[in-house]
Amino acid sequence: MHVRHTETRLYLSDDDGFAHDFHAFWLRESSTNEEFRDPGTGHKLQDADQLPLDVTIVHAATRSGELELEFSDGHRAVYSLTDLRRAAEHPFTPELIGEKVTWNASLDPLPWHNMEALENDPHKILDLLNDLARLGFVLVRGVPLELNGVLQFIDLIGYMRLTNNGGIQDIKAVGEGRIYDLSMTPRSLEPHVDNPYRVPQPGYVLLHCLRNDAQGGESQLTDGLYVAEKMRSEQPELFDSLCNVPVVFRYADEQATLENTSPFIDISPEGRIEHVRFHGRCDQVIAAEPDKLDAFYRARRTYTDLIKAPDVQLTFKLNPGEMFMVDNFRIIHGRRNFQLETGARHMRQAYIDRDVVSSRQKTLLRNIDAKPPRPRQGDPFENVAARAATEPEQRPA
Ligand SMILES: [Fe+2]
Repeated sequence: MHVRHTETRLYLSDDDGFAHDFHAFWLRESSTNEEFRDPGTGHKLQDADQLPLDVTIVHAATRSGELELEFSDGHRAVYSLTDLRRAAEHPFTPELIGEKVTWNASLDPLPWHNMEALENDPHKILDLLNDLARLGFVLVRGVPLELNGVLQFIDLIGYMRLTNNGGIQDIKAVGEGRIYDLSMTPRSLEPHVDNPYRVPQPGYVLLHCLRNDAQGGESQLTDGLYVAEKMRSEQPELFDSLCNVPVVFRYADEQATLENTSPFIDISPEGRIEHVRFHGRCDQVIAAEPDKLDAFYRARRTYTDLIKAPDVQLTFKLNPGEMFMVDNFRIIHGRRNFQLETGARHMRQAYIDRDVVSSRQKTLLRNIDAKPPRPRQGDPFENVAARAATEPEQRPA
């Protein structure tokens, strides 16, 4: 790597064509010197307004892959040249580490994992999280066949998300009057993401199977990233409409009013598709100009047809003790209807927030022996399991 500098800039280049200009203040503020940055948390020990805006580089020296800088305020810091190059080439931090691979109904093999192996080997947890980064979902066998068995899996990752519906929820047919969601009936559920009306929207959805012997009830997953990328390449104007027209997602009952306004698809500053929303029952596009809506309605129809296409939807049936975990910003899930006359279907559902999952992966990558996070003061989740009461199932007379 070649290094040149003026008072206000550092110029790095390499023989393979890499070249980047770094601002002197950016370098000063990126110092990892312990006088400036806490080695325990990585936090700065001063606010930026305590540094001189006109700080300059007074001296630069390189040795064995490292760069030492001295600044006009007297501060000295050492930088890894590899880290500087990475900061120039990959300025944004990925939420999960690993390349995403899109898939359709022909995905094979499926990303199965085993509960016992996960409990005995942290490398297996990392494998699972890497699969989640790559495919947006994982499947797990051997989750305890207990009402709150999913907690044993969640404990390996971190902690669950609470909502106004509680922690772990039943997904099974219940009697009329107790239904607050279509999932509590035996009917089929069209593809959807969960709760796009919440802020933040639940990050990951876990569905743990306790019983599934009724006819039907197969789970269906669609890779929203596959669908969105396909629209972006084949119908870019319609894709733009999905990224630019605001949609209100809403749920309201006697105890809650939940609203979020967002387009169907969010694009990151780098142009990556980072959030795919779809929920055919709670979406209301804003009352935009009719021409804009013309395009939006065509876009939504194309998007819906793609999501529901049989060659895109992966279909499988969970058996007792199995669960899936899906990225709720990417994977669109649904289920086929089931016949209560032929048996029962009882699932337990829980959510985990996105930062819990990405933190666990990144921390394991730094230290494979790192334990899952536990509350430092008390346990706010202690009684969640006890509170998650189960509803009596509705059976035909
Ligand atoms: Fe759902």
